[in-house]
Amino acid sequence: MDAVQSPIVPIIGEWIRQTPGTISLGQGVVHYGPPPAAVDIAREALANPDTHTYQDGAGSRALIGAIEDKLRRDNGIEVARGSCVTVTAGANMGYFHAVLAVTEPGDDVILPVPFYFNHEMAIQMAGCTAIPVKTDERYQLDVDAIRRAITSRTRAIVTVSPNNPTGAVYSEESLRQVSRECAERGIYHICDEVYEYFIYGSARHVSPAAFAGAERHTISLYSLSKAYGFAGWRIGYMVYPEALADAVMKVQDTVLVCPPVISQIAAVAAMEVGPAYCRHHVHALAEIRDIVFAELRSLEPLCTVPRVDGAFYCFLRVNADADPMTVAERLIREHRVAVVPGSAFGSTDGCYFRVAYGALEKDTVAEGIGRLVAGLRRIFS
Ligand SMILES: Cc1ncc(COP(=O)(O)O)c(C=O)c1O
Repeated sequence: MDAVQSPIVPIIGEWIRQTPGTISLGQGVVHYGPPPAAVDIAREALANPDTHTYQDGAGSRALIGAIEDKLRRDNGIEVARGSCVTVTAGANMGYFHAVLAVTEPGDDVILPVPFYFNHEMAIQMAGCTAIPVKTDERYQLDVDAIRRAITSRTRAIVTVSPNNPTGAVYSEESLRQVSRECAERGIYHICDEVYEYFIYGSARHVSPAAFAGAERHTISLYSLSKAYGFAGWRIGYMVYPEALADAVMKVQDTVLVCPPVISQIAAVAAMEVGPAYCRHHVHALAEIRDIVFAELRSLEPLCTVPRVDGAFYCFLRVNADADPMTVAERLIREHRVAVVPGSAFGSTDGCYFRVAYGALEKDTVAEGIGRLVAGLRRIFS
C-alpha cells in the first residue's frame, strides 16, 4: 500500500473544509439526486423482510433483466452472445474485480494518460504495474503508442470514454483499433463507460463490447452513480466474457457477498425511468459547459484547454513551470476555488488541473470559473 498514491479527493476536501465559502470544481459528482420513483420504492421495500437478507451474489434477477434490456437498447450488446452480467457496488468495484480476474501479480495493465487515479491504484493493489501511455494533444488515444507498450506481461488495456479526467470521447476508429489489438494479442479490453450518457453536440458514445467478436475479450463497466444521481447507493455493473465467470464470482463473493439489496430495488425503478432522466440534466450541463469553455479560453496563452465532447470535465494545462499541488492549495486558500491537480491523474509532464462542472448550476458556475480564472492569472502574473 505504501506504493499506492493516497486518494486525492479527501486531501482537497480537507483544504476546502478549512476554507469556508470555497466553490468546488473538484469532485466528479452531479448536482441532482435519484429519480423520485427510485426513492419511493426503496422506502416501501424497507417493510419487506427479504430486503434485509443476503440475496443472489451476481445481482437480483429483476435488475439483471433491466440491465440486459438496457445493454441491448443503448449499447448494442447482446448478453446472450457469451457474456455475463454482475452487479457491483459501483463501477470502481467492477474495475477491481476485472483487474483481479485477469491478472497475476507481476503483470502489466496499460493505462492511457491522464488516467482515472483509482484505476492505477487498483492495478498496484493487485501487485501489477500500470503502464502509462501518452495520449495526443486533444487527449485522444495514441494507438501506435499503445501497440508499442504491449509486451508478454500485458494482460489488459483500459479505455475510459467519455473520459475522466479529460472529458474526451474517443473516436470509434481508435476504439476499434484497440479492440482488434487486444483480440490479436490475446489480452483484455477493459472499457469504463460510466459517462456513457454525458455526450454533447454530434459526438456519439461507442461500446467496444458491441464490435463483432469483441465480447470474448471485452470487460465493460457501467454505473448508475452519475446518470441517475445514485453515487451513494453504490450500484454499478460489469459485462464480461463467460470464461471469466468463475474468477469474477470468487472476487464478488469474497468482497461483497451480494450487491446491496435495497439499492438494487431502487436501481430497477431508476432504470425504468430510463436515460431520459439523465438526458434532461445533460442538456442543462451543456449550457454550463459552454460557459466553462468560454471562460477558460480567456486564459490562453497562459493555459491550453482542448474542447472536448463528454463527461463534465475539462483538463487544463498551464503553460508555465509550477507544482500543481501547491497551485491547487493556493487556489483554495487564496481564491476559494477547488480543482484537482493533474499529477493525481498521472500527468506529470507539466502543470495540469482537472476542472469538474457536474455539480454546478448556472448561477454558481460563473462565480466558480471566474474565481479560477482570476486565481490563475494572479498566481502566474
Ligand atoms: C471513470 C470512472 N470510473 C468509475 C467511477 C466510479 O463510479 P462508481 O461510483 O460507480 O464506483 C468514476 C467516478 O468518478 C469515474 O470517473
